[in-house]
Amino acid sequence: MIEVANRLHTVEEYYFSKKLREVNLMIANGKPVINLGIGSPDLQPPQKVVDAIVDSLKNPAAHKYQSYQGLPELRQAMANFYKSNFKVSLSPNTEILPLIGSKEGIMHISMAFLNEGDEVLIPNPGYPTYQSVTKLVGAKGVLYNLDAGNNWMPDFEALEQQDLTKVKLMWVNYPHMPTGAKPSKYVFETLVAFAKKHNILIVNDNPYAFILNQEPTSILSVEGAKEVCLELNSLSKTFNMAGWRVGMVVGDGTLISHVLKVKSNMDSGMFYGIQKGAIEALNCSNMWFATLNSVYQKRRELVWQLAEALNCTFSKEASGMFVWAKLPAYMKSEEYIDMILKEHYIFITPGTIFGSQGEGYIRFSLCATTEDLQEAITRVS
Ligand SMILES: Cc1ncc(COP(=O)(O)O)c(C=O)c1O
Repeated sequence: MIEVANRLHTVEEYYFSKKLREVNLMIANGKPVINLGIGSPDLQPPQKVVDAIVDSLKNPAAHKYQSYQGLPELRQAMANFYKSNFKVSLSPNTEILPLIGSKEGIMHISMAFLNEGDEVLIPNPGYPTYQSVTKLVGAKGVLYNLDAGNNWMPDFEALEQQDLTKVKLMWVNYPHMPTGAKPSKYVFETLVAFAKKHNILIVNDNPYAFILNQEPTSILSVEGAKEVCLELNSLSKTFNMAGWRVGMVVGDGTLISHVLKVKSNMDSGMFYGIQKGAIEALNCSNMWFATLNSVYQKRRELVWQLAEALNCTFSKEASGMFVWAKLPAYMKSEEYIDMILKEHYIFITPGTIFGSQGEGYIRFSLCATTEDLQEAITRVS
């Protein structure tokens, strides 16, 4: 028998990987399941992005290995994107590293900065990958609780009372997934001051900045943030390019060079055509965001109706690609979603997959057509 590595005992198969098998089996058995679970955009990327990847195939150099740092014009497009949308200046030569999706960046950053036994502050509720990658690299996740009373922002008083001496890295994710809470400048400034005081690297994971959010921001817009912060960004949600796998990590050149040291030992560059498409996407005007958000706005109104029909409560101030809703008192998230799946053939994500603070909540995805959403409302009404 071939034994697996010990690190594999620290993690479980991703929730969606398991649950979607069940959902797909129901579909295969003829059940008309409406999937409001996963946040995989069903809308198309800009047409010029698709044209760019098609055109790229005619270039004989397209099929070669690509640079570990990506094309200079891709890094320039990323720098322009940060400048025009966040007013953050970045050197395309040293302060930007294109990634094959931002999820992989979580692993690269963890491998670059964490030793076994180092502690990592992880939001609860939060994206599950922060915790699993922390375990895979042998570091120790220390959850920091977020709650509705504090608009899902870190409780700095509580954090200051903890022993932070072993904490090396803190994951933050604003706008926040799954709750959609939007960061204020004050929260970002407090985070930067906190990181400097305790010598902690803060990584803001920022893939939802442009979805139903009037004021996209970057933690790097805070003065002095580059000394202690990196930021991940992604084209997955912003340009409906989740399957393309393209994102970036940005920040101080020395920090980025450490991430490059890991990454250049793991992959051999991003496919040329994907880079060409990404350049076109990043060069889109603000019209793109307006059009995209008008679709999500209509869908969100229907999801609000659906949530109300299920007697859930939610904030209309939230941003992002999901509606985070509180269940009626005493309802348990996983039991509730299983019941809705069984009775109405609607799949919704239980809040608990994002941590214990997600108990009593469910997350609806906006990646479903208005027809499907209307049908879901009819089924539960
Ligand atoms: C909070 C958060 N971070 C990162 C990612 C990964 O995005 P990407 O497609 O860029 O890997 C996701 C995807 O769902 C996410 O929700």
